[in-house]
Amino acid sequence: MAEQLQGRTVFITGSGGVLGSTYVRRMLDEGARVIGSDLPGHRAEALKEAHAGNENFRFYELDVSEEDQVVEIFKRILADGWEPNVVLNNAAITGELLMGAGKGFPDFADLEVKDWEKTMRTNLTAPFMVARQMDRDIVGKYPCTLINVASMYALNGAHHRIYDGMPFKNFSAYGVSKAGIHGLTLWLAGYWADRGATVNTIAPGAVFNGHSDEFQRRVGELIMLNRMAKPDEIADAMLFLASKAAGYMTGQLVNVDGGFSGW
Ligand SMILES: NC(=O)c1ccc[n+]([C@@H]2O[C@H](COP(=O)([O-])OP(=O)(O)OC[C@H]3O[C@@H](n4cnc5c(N)ncnc54)[C@H](O)[C@@H]3O)[C@@H](O)[C@H]2O)c1
Repeated sequence: MAEQLQGRTVFITGSGGVLGSTYVRRMLDEGARVIGSDLPGHRAEALKEAHAGNENFRFYELDVSEEDQVVEIFKRILADGWEPNVVLNNAAITGELLMGAGKGFPDFADLEVKDWEKTMRTNLTAPFMVARQMDRDIVGKYPCTLINVASMYALNGAHHRIYDGMPFKNFSAYGVSKAGIHGLTLWLAGYWADRGATVNTIAPGAVFNGHSDEFQRRVGELIMLNRMAKPDEIADAMLFLASKAAGYMTGQLVNVDGGFSGW
């Protein structure tokens, strides 16, 4: 599969995170040029450091929830001489990112509208703004593809019991935003079809990131393969969707969840 991304220039939002940084590394390995972006902070710094001096990597600070920044980013990238033909709407806010690491998430009855709206803004409105900017600046000018990132909890209900006693919960606005993002994929797929642009959704399953043995056991029982995913296993499917080999796919939701959604 070496160099399956030759000729691809991939723009990734939220690329300093667990999965985003894996996509960056794997895509560079496969011959792509990669434009990383994220909020300023330790994730951005670590990503820049990891790929310092790689001429196939560039990084831009970008808060996807800020409309003016999204409007400007494609213009900046194009003015700097790179033409992204793959765009990954990967940035998202989880319960932990919203409340701060180590803080519990409130019960549904106590969820504040401002927290719901911040989640929708980052996870759904921002991907819309990125797609709209693709439409304005790229779609129709050269072939391109958009990959929206959903979740196993987009079109499946959350298994609330597995979070009993855990330091984190699945929270409502996250799953709702992730269901909405596949709606964006479906709407755009037909809208862009005559202009040489495709759009698909990837729905990753539960990715291991230092979870306790007890949580791994509980979630594993819901997954056919009986274990959480490694980030590289999600990246394997992402590389395919970003490659020319996925050229006849549009409007699809690709579950990469070890069989979670198959039961
Ligand atoms: N890890 C999982 O188990 C899992 C499962 C299903 C889906 N996903 C999805 O995969 C994607 C990546 O997840 P991850 O596990 O790498 O999460 P992560 O929290 O490690 O990374 C998310 C990144 O998004 C960035 N971000 C948050 N708000 C932003 C904003 N306003 N502007 C720009 N960047 C912003 C964060 O700084 C962070 O680097 C997300 O869309 C997530 O919902 C993850």
